[in-house]
Amino acid sequence: MNILFLGDVVARSGREAVIADLPALQKEYAADFTVINGENAAHGKGITKKIYNQLIEAGADVITLGNHAFSKREILQDINSCPAMVRPANMEPLHAGSSCVIKECKGKRIAVINILGSAFMNSTGHPILVMEELLKGLEADIILVDLHAEASSEKILFARYFSEKVTAVLGTHTHVQTADETIINGCAFITDTGMCGPYDSVLGRDTGEVLARLLNDMSTYYKPATGRVVICGCLIEIDDETNRAVRITRIQKRPE
Ligand code: FE2
Repeated sequence: MNILFLGDVVARSGREAVIADLPALQKEYAADFTVINGENAAHGKGITKKIYNQLIEAGADVITLGNHAFSKREILQDINSCPAMVRPANMEPLHAGSSCVIKECKGKRIAVINILGSAFMNSTGHPILVMEELLKGLEADIILVDLHAEASSEKILFARYFSEKVTAVLGTHTHVQTADETIINGCAFITDTGMCGPYDSVLGRDTGEVLARLLNDMSTYYKPATGRVVICGCLIEIDDETNRAVRITRIQKRPE
């Protein structure tokens, strides 16, 4: 079983690149199942049902989110009609949507979970305690966690703590891919998968706008950058006999 995971899709340029390139990526990596973090897919913050549908039609099996999950408020009304969308388990409002989606692929039940880290996030419960609760009664062959968090230390701790209970812990949120991909006790891990978005930018944001905000203390709107796109993610190879991860490969497609 090969699972393709793409990191935070940022803004129109990232979205359009992922939609256009996904079939080729799935072919290149022989992906059986594809998960995409779409929390920044709508103008750099949030997601809409329309964009969710576009990503699913392009070939995604599950869409994960993060701290900007509900930045486009309309998704609160629509999320229950997006069955393959996973919202963070420890983020208000807790009633909207599902924090664990189980889908079947090649005879395996794949559970995809989305959790926020605790540092610099408005999370409502500690990720480790929330995960312990989610695991109770969870029946799946493969468990993949998108841990949407700022602090590398808590992502590493989470992966080490749950390494024997889950198949993959994939970090998202920082938009910068780390080079620490590894297998821990049959669990694939990377601190951050990186983003799919504008390459000539500051984490996907317009460089001039970020400069104005940080240097001149100006209050600015989140303006996504445009132009060339980088696509980041990883491929997780899972042993069909043991359902454990045997390899994780970083994917980073930079512009020419
Ligand atoms: Fe985020």
